[in-house]
Amino acid sequence: MELDEIKQRALAHLDDVSDLLALEAWRVAYLGKKSPLSQALRSLGSLPLEERRRLGAQANQIKELLEKALLEKEAALKAAEVAQTLGQEGVDVTLPGRRPTLGRLHPTTQMVRAICQVFVTLGFQVVEGPEVEWDYYNFEALNIPPDHPARDMWDTLWIDSPERGDKGAMLLRTHTSPMQIRVMERTRPPVRVVVPGKCYRYEATDATHESMFYQIEGLAVDKGITFAHLKGTIGEFARRLFGGERKIRFRCDYFPFVEPGVEVAVDCFACNGAGCRLCGNTGWLEIMGAGMVHPGVLEQVGYDPKVYTGFAFGLGPERVAMLRHGIDDIRLFYSNDLRFLRQF
Ligand code: DAH
Repeated sequence: MELDEIKQRALAHLDDVSDLLALEAWRVAYLGKKSPLSQALRSLGSLPLEERRRLGAQANQIKELLEKALLEKEAALKAAEVAQTLGQEGVDVTLPGRRPTLGRLHPTTQMVRAICQVFVTLGFQVVEGPEVEWDYYNFEALNIPPDHPARDMWDTLWIDSPERGDKGAMLLRTHTSPMQIRVMERTRPPVRVVVPGKCYRYEATDATHESMFYQIEGLAVDKGITFAHLKGTIGEFARRLFGGERKIRFRCDYFPFVEPGVEVAVDCFACNGAGCRLCGNTGWLEIMGAGMVHPGVLEQVGYDPKVYTGFAFGLGPERVAMLRHGIDDIRLFYSNDLRFLRQF
């Protein structure tokens, strides 16, 4: 066969090829070992030199051309195949993409931030402390000596570790109050801090008790701080968090590190104090413990209680979130149920 004829025929055939299987057959027929082109190349050897050069060059040119045509055809067939599958599966490439699921802040985190933000605007600094504590900070320096019955107020998770001389045994902090001591140890008045963080109790859990929960501690110490400052600060906090009309109520309570100690309640924001399901018909919601820092605590950190006075408070952000959102079980916060978490 004439080389030219081989080329014409191959290209004409390639036009008819409509799938990859037929394309492979075409490749074998026109570029395979037994193809006329290969045969022609092989027979060149028996030709005179002049002829061999001319035909050889032509044959190689045709081979290159056919190989290039093969690749182009293959790419075109594959593209057509993809387009067809997309069409069959009904993929509409003009549809907008799927939204990735975004995470969000845990309701406790949101509440902790909202509460700290209020105190920051009132001039408090946010500090954090260790969750693993020494007996000294968690109890002793807070006016709770060993064997004092007040220790029963906190069911404690002790850690099996060697005692550190003057600091005593190790435990998971039962409240954020130990940070009062740590902050005062390393600074001189004026002190104004809030301390958010996790606390741990050796406790059977129920709707209002968890073995791990958050607290936010507050401490203000300076010359001339009185109970009026405590009242004013907490009142302002309650109004900023729960709304402009809130009233607060103080009732005597006992905490070893304050004197006097109080339990603070706000009038119920759901019923404005009239009495409803949320406040258990009392009209009041208890939100924190507070008091004037005990002189013994100030002495413990080397502050002269005749010169300096202060107030402290401690509140549970989960409890505040429960009141605010009408959540009836604290265990929901840490059971990782997305149906709960996605609501916030
Ligand atoms: N630490 C106390 C608790 O866990 C809460 C508390 C009460 C903190 C009175 C205070 C305070 O700072 O003055 O029960």
